[in-house]
Amino acid sequence: MTQVVAVLDFGSQYTQVIARRIRECQVYSRIYPYDTTAAQLKKDGVQGIILSGGPSSVFDKNAPIPDKRIFNIGVPVLGICYGIQLMGFLLGGKVEKSKQREYGHGLLDINKKGRLLRGLKKQIRVWNSHGDKLIRLPSGFKALASTENSSFAIITDAKRDFYGLQFHPEVYHTEQGIKIIQNFLYQICRCSGDWSMADYIIRSIATIRETVGDKRVILALSGGVDSSVAAVLIHRAIGSQLTCVFVDNGLLRLNERETVERIFKENFEFDLRVKRSSNQFLKRLKGIVNPERKRKIIGKVFIEVFEEAVKTMGDVKFLGQGTLYPDVIESIPIDGNPAALIKTHHNVGGLPKRMKLKLLEPLRELFKDEVRKLGEELGLPKEMVWRQPFPGPGLGVRVMGEITRPRLDILRQADAILIEEMKKSGFYYKVWQSFAVFLPVRTVGVMGDERTYDNVIALRIVNSTDAMTADWARLPYPVIETISTRISNEVKGVNRVVLDISSKPPSTIEWE
Ligand code: XMP
Repeated sequence: MTQVVAVLDFGSQYTQVIARRIRECQVYSRIYPYDTTAAQLKKDGVQGIILSGGPSSVFDKNAPIPDKRIFNIGVPVLGICYGIQLMGFLLGGKVEKSKQREYGHGLLDINKKGRLLRGLKKQIRVWNSHGDKLIRLPSGFKALASTENSSFAIITDAKRDFYGLQFHPEVYHTEQGIKIIQNFLYQICRCSGDWSMADYIIRSIATIRETVGDKRVILALSGGVDSSVAAVLIHRAIGSQLTCVFVDNGLLRLNERETVERIFKENFEFDLRVKRSSNQFLKRLKGIVNPERKRKIIGKVFIEVFEEAVKTMGDVKFLGQGTLYPDVIESIPIDGNPAALIKTHHNVGGLPKRMKLKLLEPLRELFKDEVRKLGEELGLPKEMVWRQPFPGPGLGVRVMGEITRPRLDILRQADAILIEEMKKSGFYYKVWQSFAVFLPVRTVGVMGDERTYDNVIALRIVNSTDAMTADWARLPYPVIETISTRISNEVKGVNRVVLDISSKPPSTIEWE
């Protein structure tokens, strides 16, 4: 049986990060609602329990309180942040209400190491974010480390294998935090650390089969990493009960529809329905220049086309989606508020509600890089798994001004050259995104003996780790030169190529 460590979720934005760190240690982790009964956890055979942090105070009227019996089932418990207050509160210590949250970096002095802190330096930088403070330990507990503000920054009752941390070991800003988690898993919970993505697949397949039964699932396949990986995983589980719909909205990159068809129909034998709907989209976009209106129209027509496709399919019960754990940004700003960095997910639309479908989201717990790993494990080709992000509204937000077929054709050709050269030079997989933008201005040029009066293409090539901030990539001049020369020579209607050297902020990655 796979060893599993339970993470009880008390609402911290970092709960998923804890689960992820556990997976990084090759141990399977499962997030449970905070009020899961001890009996359930025991039945599931958990090897250890982690109480996540959370925004609450134990003194709040509706504070989330776990089943107290979790402390009696004989497995190690690690309380983090709110989790340590809970331990203090529930096991007979004293917690003091504080008016202000302690926030940011602190220096932790380790006085005694034991199994939890084996291999750590004597002093480490830690990341704090907590309100209340433990002021008296429950009986049987002692302190292992302190900070400027607290004598009880790490506490333990080593006999019962209970541990509490006042800070967050799961964030990168805590030095050697991963070592603490490893020690808890390997030394204290005695996990063997042999779990892998292959196990994730086996488990997911079982869950998908159980959830779906003999019902049908529909999935909007965009050809992006997330929907592709979700589709292949669901397909592995239920085969022909899955139908994928690919909407060609006329705003795709060169040969995109053909590539998706080739990969999914030929390699995976998917039931893939391709909707060629470019006319419908372009008609509705005629004359529209405002970026927000463009996005709204594209989203709306997409839903119409998708609904139409589902209508022809009879009894569908589930909507498969490649939703990831909403992109909680892992690199936490040194002085700022990490909560402010939570990015809302673009792609969770109003579809399921309108269509009365249940959601099936097998990637919900995963981070992007884990999804890529999963994709590779499932046998998706590299070109799919390592694709750069592409916005839902596609080239619609890369043609400035009105979207017309001739403009889209020009942009598609220029973009294909850019991608080809980026791949040839090895930079495609090194940068975050690289794409062409069509500018609706015409400038004068010369070609042979003739004057030209043609369009401008801008190159947008950026480095980023999370799309929240970005900087223009300093590519070698010869690479940029080749891209520029090829675009002006090979794409009819373009006589000038410019390079965007703006960072985000103040610019954005996309131009619209
Ligand atoms: P910006 O332009 O805001 O983009 O710096 C940040 C990242 O998000 C992508 N992007 C989108 N993705 N639907 C999407 O699925 C959208 O409407 C959308 N708009 C921007 C963009 O490509 C970049 O990676």
